[in-house]
Amino acid sequence: MKGSLLYEGKAKKVYYVENEPEQLVLSYKNDATAFNGKKKDQFEGKGRLNNLITSKVFEYLKQQGLSSHFIKSLNDTEQLVSKTTIIPLEVVVRNVAAGSITRRLGIKEKEIFSPPLVEFYYKEDELDDPIINDQHALYLTDVKEEEIQFIKETALKINEHLKDLFKQSGLKLVDFKLEFGRLADGTIVLADEISPDTCRLWDENTGEKMDKDVFRENLGDLISVYENILQRLEENTCAK
Ligand code: TMP
Repeated sequence: MKGSLLYEGKAKKVYYVENEPEQLVLSYKNDATAFNGKKKDQFEGKGRLNNLITSKVFEYLKQQGLSSHFIKSLNDTEQLVSKTTIIPLEVVVRNVAAGSITRRLGIKEKEIFSPPLVEFYYKEDELDDPIINDQHALYLTDVKEEEIQFIKETALKINEHLKDLFKQSGLKLVDFKLEFGRLADGTIVLADEISPDTCRLWDENTGEKMDKDVFRENLGDLISVYENILQRLEENTCAK
């Protein structure tokens, strides 16, 4: 049923689906990149872990009434999704200061943001994904003013659900990145992935970093950390 390759990104390949023009197959790769592709490596098993973790997260969001492009997981590394045109915005929600905001604004790591912050970055590799404001987003993309509000409100709603989900697994959701896409009828839905590649997760007890920062900052074995996240999510969702 998988058709020809539509697009290859840094972490996933996207395929058409034969006879289903409104669906795509996402195939998760073992590649890891950071700092806009300047740091690269491959980790056997990473594609499987991100596919399974993302699938669990999107299934949970669906149970909470939040739809996304996700249809179902097909096998260890692939999932079926509704075809969308990705809006070139990275929507970042921050609960706790970490990463680029500490460097850009001189805020100490671990400072708490209450209410959480929502930021937009323009998804354009050649420009290194610069941070932009609402007016820039209106100019650079096809989103309308009310759609910007919808995206921000949805991102904050997703934050509340994800904070709960990860808390049940003993993890603090520090920040994360979302992408939205348009279905054929123009409706905007949550798309892309939600995995330890796109979230910062800290162990609630030890404060240990359990996400792609392990790779970015050379803190240890990425695969055992991602395996641990999947295990915690499985224990938590099976117990219910
Ligand atoms: P940042 O602190 O580097 O701006 O990252 C904020 C969050 O967004 C963090 O959880 C990692 C995630 N992120 C991505 O998923 N993709 C990216 O390209 C970047 C820069 C960040």
